[in-house]
Amino acid sequence: MSHVFVTRALPGGAGAGSPMDRLHAACEVNLWAGDAPPSTDELLARSEGVDGLLTMLTERIDGALLDARPSIRVVANMAVGYDNIDVDACTERGVLVTNTPGVLTDATADMAWALLMAAARRLPEGRTAIEDGSWGPWSPTWLLGADVTGTTLGIVGPGRIGAAMARRAQGFEMRVVYSGRSAKPDFPGEFVSQDELLATSDYVSVHVPLNDETRGMCDTAFFARMQPHAIFVNTSRGPVVDQPALLAAVERGTIAGAGLDVMTPEPLPVDDPLLRAPGIVLAPHLGSATPRTRTRMAHLAVDGLLAGLSAEDGVRPEHLVNPEALARSRGTR
Ligand code: DGY
Repeated sequence: MSHVFVTRALPGGAGAGSPMDRLHAACEVNLWAGDAPPSTDELLARSEGVDGLLTMLTERIDGALLDARPSIRVVANMAVGYDNIDVDACTERGVLVTNTPGVLTDATADMAWALLMAAARRLPEGRTAIEDGSWGPWSPTWLLGADVTGTTLGIVGPGRIGAAMARRAQGFEMRVVYSGRSAKPDFPGEFVSQDELLATSDYVSVHVPLNDETRGMCDTAFFARMQPHAIFVNTSRGPVVDQPALLAAVERGTIAGAGLDVMTPEPLPVDDPLLRAPGIVLAPHLGSATPRTRTRMAHLAVDGLLAGLSAEDGVRPEHLVNPEALARSRGTR
């Protein structure tokens, strides 16, 4: 039986057919019981002799860990993003990496919309006014927000989540434009250059993976190209945004506001300057945080782990991030 280290109790309960139950049926499971992620040293210690890891986006998997733990053959990440994993280091060492795309598309697009609406209609400021007693009699000019219906939504990164965000815009009779490497025939919007998108969108929503190309992509120049009444939304990864540049853009009125589900660092310190801008709506990385979505992610991560452990029998994990690693697979030890 394969040995695996699982870095957090999986959602979906422990009943028959649950993700944890499926793991226990197939493997010797070493489970990290803490709510907080294991530290680098704890991860190293608990990975000794294991065949596979089921990780969260909070665990850093790199060449040093894999060299110290040569028994590891598979890393199944319970996330669609895998920027916490040095995929090249895994591929070089024949370690398979899997992720969980698709199942969190709708929940994440819903969250992007929640942030867009909350920032447009200034919901946190309204709540603060109720709490601090500054809510006076109804006024025709107080706390006016931005219209959504009939405006233009710009999607940067036309992947699954960007497309789901765009589909929802149809209900608001919005024009949708998108930018990316190339036009996508089925995308529900009009392909434009990033310059045109930023210059013409009332809302700009980012849906790109974090990599060397996208790190810091939303910088001072990016925000300067947006319209002063526009609102920026990010549900992808925090480091895609130059955060001081975003804060300056909102505080100086270069753009009107922002809605962020992801930021740098996570968790954000309670005294972070980002919290001082009332026009920036924040959520603590909750894009996929519904029981149904998280359970589906857990099942998909278990699928990836179990398939990866059987790769030498010709099984190919469905969501294999690095197919080139198959040829170098570490095999059973
Ligand atoms: C992912 O899967 O990458 C998300 O950020 C987790 O919600």
